[in-house]
Amino acid sequence: MNYKKHILITGGAGFIGSHLTILLVKKYPQYSIINLDKLTYAGNLENLKPIENKPNYQFIKGDICDNEFLEGLFEKYQFDGIFHLAAESHVDRSIDSPNEFAFANVIGTLNLLNQCRKYWKENYVDKLFYHISTDEVYGSLGDTGLFTETTPYDPRSPYSASKASSDHFVRAFFHTYGLPVVISNCSNNYGPLQFPEKLIPLMINNLLKNKQLPVYGDGKNVRDWLYVGDHVEAMDVIFHNGIAGETYNIGGDNEMQNIELVHLLCDLTDGLLNREKGHGRKLIKFVKDRPGHDRRYAIDASKIKNELNWHPKTNSSEGFRKTVEWYLNNQEWLKKVTSGQYRDYYQRFYEA
Ligand code: NAD
Ligand code: TYD
Repeated sequence: MNYKKHILITGGAGFIGSHLTILLVKKYPQYSIINLDKLTYAGNLENLKPIENKPNYQFIKGDICDNEFLEGLFEKYQFDGIFHLAAESHVDRSIDSPNEFAFANVIGTLNLLNQCRKYWKENYVDKLFYHISTDEVYGSLGDTGLFTETTPYDPRSPYSASKASSDHFVRAFFHTYGLPVVISNCSNNYGPLQFPEKLIPLMINNLLKNKQLPVYGDGKNVRDWLYVGDHVEAMDVIFHNGIAGETYNIGGDNEMQNIELVHLLCDLTDGLLNREKGHGRKLIKFVKDRPGHDRRYAIDASKIKNELNWHPKTNSSEGFRKTVEWYLNNQEWLKKVTSGQYRDYYQRFYEA
């Protein structure tokens, strides 16, 4: 088949990447789509079952830090567009091992930018490097105000520092070499397939097991939650209609304190499992705060709404209910990702 576009998605076996890959493979049979993922603990090919046999889809195991590997990949596939999601993504892990975040998130991004530059050879017609970033690069807000695309960067965790640094490299390649790039900075995502180290799936998993629910600090930190399906739709719109050199903030207009959210998850889980009212809330334990814990994130998404006509479709009560239901109905998935069973299996499979 003569494909209209050759697309590379990095990190397509992770949480957001698998939702994006499924969307694009189904929606664009005329595109050839390669999913490149290292399959770290956070990558899970099981997530991609719905599309694994589609003719326009291929998975390739590889590391964006491995330049020699990338060289061969770019030479072979001549990509027109890159959705770059591969990253180490968990703040707590970044506090524990910052160097890994610098390698994967900064050097990995730089390697991809270099490959694009080399293979596109300044023939940039219909080419795009789309870098998927986070609102955490902007730092921490007080009680009021919103992050806009011009808010100065002020990253405060090793994770956000690595993402900020990668954003700077992406923009530097636009200004210095004219590489066509676009960046989006999105707020906290939630939905099915998220590794249960992040707040929402961790709480649901602990609720299922009747384990304590660790709430950091006073539980009053605020996040702006966006349903993952809305994020990947925004990415589709940005890739096709966004303007090279521009940045788009993406958010859910859905600010919540962590403790409010944990209460909601407890009540939804109690209801769906027919448990006594208040059962889940009794498991809440306020624990030592995360070092440097950002107080509040909130996004002003008016640019993408006004210029690209994207709006989040999922209202939060529907989104949270759907999410809790998914984890309760997919306890086998939770068990396997936490036990590392899938990872071990695919490791053996791909390294055999
Ligand atoms: P995730 O941790 O679930 O998935 C990351 C994926 O990248 C995994 O499949 C992993 O195997 C892969 N990966 C990691 N290092 C790699 C390497 N060196 N080479 C190849 N693959 C590698 O993360 P996620 O939550 O899906 O986030 C995806 C992207 O979106 C990240 O860049 C993150 O910074 C950004 N983001 C996430 C959120 C959120 O709420 N989760 C919000 C805004 C932006
Ligand atoms: P997280 O899902 O790690 O996302 P991020 O730090 O990137 O925003 O955490 C979301 C919020 O929940 C954050 O304020 C930290 C808090 N949190 C807890 O209170 N307890 C937990 O066990 C976790 C993982 C997070």
